[in-house]
Amino acid sequence: MTRNVVPDSNTLVLGIETSCDETAAALVMGGNDVVSTVVSSQIEVHADFGGVVPEIASRAHLQALNPVIARTIVEAGVDESRIDAVACTYGPGLIGALLVGVSAAKALALAWDVPFVGVNHLEAHLYSAFLEDPSLEFPLVVLLVSGGHTMLVEMQGHGRYRLLGQTIDDAAGEAFDKVARFLGLGYPGGPALDREAMNGDPDFVRFPRAMSDDPSNLDFSFSGLKTAVVNYCRKHPDVGTADIAASFQMAVVDVLVAKTRRAAQRIGATGIVLGGGVAANSLLREELLGACASDGIRGFLPSRAMCTDNAAMIAATGWYRLKSDGPTPLDVGAFPNLRLPLVDA
Ligand code: KG4
Ligand code: ZN
Repeated sequence: MTRNVVPDSNTLVLGIETSCDETAAALVMGGNDVVSTVVSSQIEVHADFGGVVPEIASRAHLQALNPVIARTIVEAGVDESRIDAVACTYGPGLIGALLVGVSAAKALALAWDVPFVGVNHLEAHLYSAFLEDPSLEFPLVVLLVSGGHTMLVEMQGHGRYRLLGQTIDDAAGEAFDKVARFLGLGYPGGPALDREAMNGDPDFVRFPRAMSDDPSNLDFSFSGLKTAVVNYCRKHPDVGTADIAASFQMAVVDVLVAKTRRAAQRIGATGIVLGGGVAANSLLREELLGACASDGIRGFLPSRAMCTDNAAMIAATGWYRLKSDGPTPLDVGAFPNLRLPLVDA
């Protein structure tokens, strides 16, 4: 029988994240005080392949995880007996990669006789803002833009989400990665394209803004934009890469910001929060803050380190989930296609 833990401001949660290509651990106190956070990136391991290779990712997690957890505990300067719960991403993500983290988290929870908490990676991205500002007030609109997802979510309260819109094809991060690869900007594509765009003209080409005609439609589509970039470059082989990167980025950001703004107006949000890897994008951050200022609502941008995959957001979400739902049974599996839990519309 696992020790009963009722989370409070002194509860120390170890978070573990291995859903994709970052091996991460963090210790977070009381749901928002980050005591230590360690992220070991596999970027170099996958760079030669131009993308994440699932089998290689699982092996790299196996090698890195124990040292990453050990470093997290040493950096926090606490004894492991002080840890009150172990939270770990159990989906969505790559199945082999998820299993490494989930198995380790269950083993540690058993060994330390503390609760295990399975955390939804998407929910954790929503929570990264609360790590840095727990005073955010509901209802909030969260624009969750990562390599695998593009969603507009109404956050009505802790654990209460309603889906307002989502991509019907590619995720925004996927579009950044594919266009960066086509332009020869290297891997990972998003940050490389962001840097290249700084030297280009965002108005050089007006690429299409898909699904923008109907103001009530909050869904996104990015696959046509990628094709438009490829077609344009084939017709104009001498065009500068920086101008294409800047024009592409402007088209993505335009649509993301316009729809997020509309979503906030529709639900009367107190503010807009960004989450997911693409939330690290310079232009998106700038434009979103500008839009919030003109609309007189709060715009909250988590730091870049909290936008991309990390375990502090897992530990924070674990704290909230432990509080609302209690421990997750140890026979729970890993779920590659886990969805965000939604309340009825
Ligand atoms: O959330 P994340 O770290 O992993 C997933 O859960 O997918 O997001 C990774 C995605 C990648 O597609 C990456 O290219 C993109 O976020 N990304 C960016 C930037 N930094 C990361 N995209 C645009 N601009 C950036 N600065
Ligand atoms: Zn992520």
